[in-house]
Amino acid sequence: MPLRDGYEPSPFSPGYGRRPLVFGGHETELAELSDVFASLDFGENHSVLISGLRGAGKTSMLAKIQDSALSNGWLVISDDASAGLMDRVMETTIPSLLGGLSPEARARLTGLGIWQFTAHWEYVDRHREVKPLLRRDLVALSTTLAESKQPAGILITIDEVSSGKVRLRELSRFALEVSHAISEGANVMVVFAGIKVDLNALVEQEHTTFLRRSRELDFRRLTPRETRHVLSESIRIGGRSITEDALNLLVTFSQGYPYLVQLAGDYAWRGSGTAATIALADAQSAHGRAITAVERRVISRVYQDLSEKDQEFVKAMAVDEGRSRMADIIQRMGVSDQYVQVYKKRLIESGYVQADGRGHVVFSLPYLGDYIRSTTTEAEGVARADDWDRFPPPAVPR
Ligand SMILES: Nc1ncnc2c1ncn2[C@@H]1O[C@H](COP(=O)(O)OP(=O)(O)OP(=O)(O)O)[C@@H](O)[C@H]1O
Ligand SMILES: [Mg+2]
Repeated sequence: MPLRDGYEPSPFSPGYGRRPLVFGGHETELAELSDVFASLDFGENHSVLISGLRGAGKTSMLAKIQDSALSNGWLVISDDASAGLMDRVMETTIPSLLGGLSPEARARLTGLGIWQFTAHWEYVDRHREVKPLLRRDLVALSTTLAESKQPAGILITIDEVSSGKVRLRELSRFALEVSHAISEGANVMVVFAGIKVDLNALVEQEHTTFLRRSRELDFRRLTPRETRHVLSESIRIGGRSITEDALNLLVTFSQGYPYLVQLAGDYAWRGSGTAATIALADAQSAHGRAITAVERRVISRVYQDLSEKDQEFVKAMAVDEGRSRMADIIQRMGVSDQYVQVYKKRLIESGYVQADGRGHVVFSLPYLGDYIRSTTTEAEGVARADDWDRFPPPAVPR
């Protein structure tokens, strides 16, 4: 559909798994991983764990890593940690990757006796007499890729790691196969992404000890400089400009939180209509709307990712507008000092909370405190509004 004059589409992409036009930060890590794709010299990079809160950019980072692997001729297996992972990878993904290999590579693979090909090197099926094992597939593929003109390896990315029991069992079986392939010398890099507590649960599984040596990338916020770059570059590429004061406002209220950066830019862009320049008033009207949207779409999920106990801790914190005294939290929660220290440690580690001077903590995620305060007052408001809790339904006579 032709766009009306002046209505350029927004260059921003607020939404889960939507790749940003301008990807901010993480240059060093990306460069190091790209070196591995080019050199096959893995160092510590056989396994990588990407952790971070919702909307911190994990899925977008996986996409960048995949791009880099593909451009170096690597095979890419990307999936998420949902039930049936092993079957999907072995029955669907790998056969379709085989189809993309050069005829010479397929000819080399035939000799390994895992897969059957037609005379024209079309994939037929697995050889049924051999027990299918992912490790064998990976080693065979890796051997073949290593012999090609441009030696390459296999990148496996698994997104949405979550700590449900069944899922963890399946994932740990998957990880075991990958670790065997790596110890047999296969050129494989595996990257898992998820929130911190779930990744920790994965690493503690039986067959996943090799993941303890993983490269860890913990995604927090973009720096102010990176945030400014993402906003101004996206706007420039999109075909507009922005005034300095408008840009400053977007940078400060988005606080470097990737999802919010995209929302901020998007609302400001749309608010400016057909103007060639985004002005302060556009950024001001984007402010409230972007915060409401990030609370609804992101912060609420970030909060729900917490265990009940951890939720109690952050609720006890949210009573204070600014930083909270640990002594007050202990008193509000009514549990022992030791327990509270455990929650505190876990929340700091997973990026929710940070220490702020001796004996104090503060939310490291902007707007989480505001969100919790708004839900607690809302919940009270609802109870008062309909009053039905004073009129419980009587037992049904039978
Ligand atoms: N480095 C970045 N620079 C700019 N924008 C980014 C960056 N990373 C992610 N974004 C944007 O942030 C939003 C969320 O990204 P993404 O879906 O990758 O997060 P996530 O960590 O995978 O979230 P979830 O935990 O819910 O899966 C998207 O709108 C994306 O375009
Ligand atoms: Mg994601």
